[in-house]
Amino acid sequence: TPRVFSGIQPSGALHLGNYLGAIRRFAAMQDKGMETIYCMVDLHAITVWQDPADLAQSTRTLCAGYIAAGVDPEKSILINQSQVPEHAELAWVMSCVARMGWMKRMTQFKDKAGKNAEKASLGLFVYPALMAADILVYHATHVPVGEDQKQHVELTRDIAAKFNHDYGVDFFPLPDPVIEGTATRVMSLRDGSKKMSKSDPSDASRINLMDDADTIAQKIRKARTDFDALPSEAAGLEGRAEARNLVNIYAALSDRTLDETLGEVGGLQFSEFKPKLAELAVAQLAPISDEMRRLLADPAEIDRILAAGARRARDITGPILGRAYEIIGMIRS
Ligand code: TYM
Repeated sequence: TPRVFSGIQPSGALHLGNYLGAIRRFAAMQDKGMETIYCMVDLHAITVWQDPADLAQSTRTLCAGYIAAGVDPEKSILINQSQVPEHAELAWVMSCVARMGWMKRMTQFKDKAGKNAEKASLGLFVYPALMAADILVYHATHVPVGEDQKQHVELTRDIAAKFNHDYGVDFFPLPDPVIEGTATRVMSLRDGSKKMSKSDPSDASRINLMDDADTIAQKIRKARTDFDALPSEAAGLEGRAEARNLVNIYAALSDRTLDETLGEVGGLQFSEFKPKLAELAVAQLAPISDEMRRLLADPAEIDRILAAGARRARDITGPILGRAYEIIGMIRS
């Protein structure tokens, strides 16, 4: 049976890319009746320095974001990674299965570590082994993510296959990345060649889920574009990264394909299109940020939700980790 797992790091503010590329799709898969498990990956967050007070706060904010965007803690299992210790335990096993050479090919590590890879934490390097464990410790089959995480899910498949092969078992299913829709790679509002990211120093480059209506409208008004009217067919977006990005965002927010969207907005100037986009973004995001604020007013309730999620998760992860240890030959008495 299909089982869905995905995760988001509780570091920095949630932005439109996280919402369109991930959370909103998580809620949709849940509502299709699939078995869904969604995670705040606090152990991943500490691969770069996090202030302890900020980490707890960001984790609760992320939990509120999930719920406000439609992830229902009754229908889905909603967990914080460090509260389900089997993730970290299986991560060790996976780091023994994975090869150095595989890890060295991960583009996210190269991007994040930059030129000074010697100074990066060891955790940042082995991060994909923990991500593989997150997925495999549930025997998850489907992993909805944005485009930037595709390589990590493919690595997870390689690790699972090598485990199965090395131990002569058919134990871990190979999970499929699920990367669909027009917003699998939302780009920066300031530079159409860079993805929208929590770590971009320019706040104007992204729309944060908690931004107020004026801020959202202003960021869209100032978003970089070219000077031509919008085309009425997708081919007309060739070589126009910024225009393509804004149209993709509009399409995703209004739940339509790129062609349908261009059918509506083709021919408009940016001075006409941007206010429409801002209005749509505000209409969709304002209820979410209001609900997040309401949920965050009661942090104890969020902590109860996470505790309950962890209990449900461990009913799944305990037996799978136990069986993996048995397969490896570890004493289980
Ligand atoms: P993270 O926290 O960087 O991002 C969370 C999710 O948001 C997606 N995303 C985007 N989608 C579209 N456009 C963007 N500009 C954009 N920016 C981010 C990401 O693709 C992701 O789906 N390693 C993961 C977290 C993780 C995980 C997992 C995911 C840990 N374990 C297991 C799936 C399964 C990460 O750092 O995502």
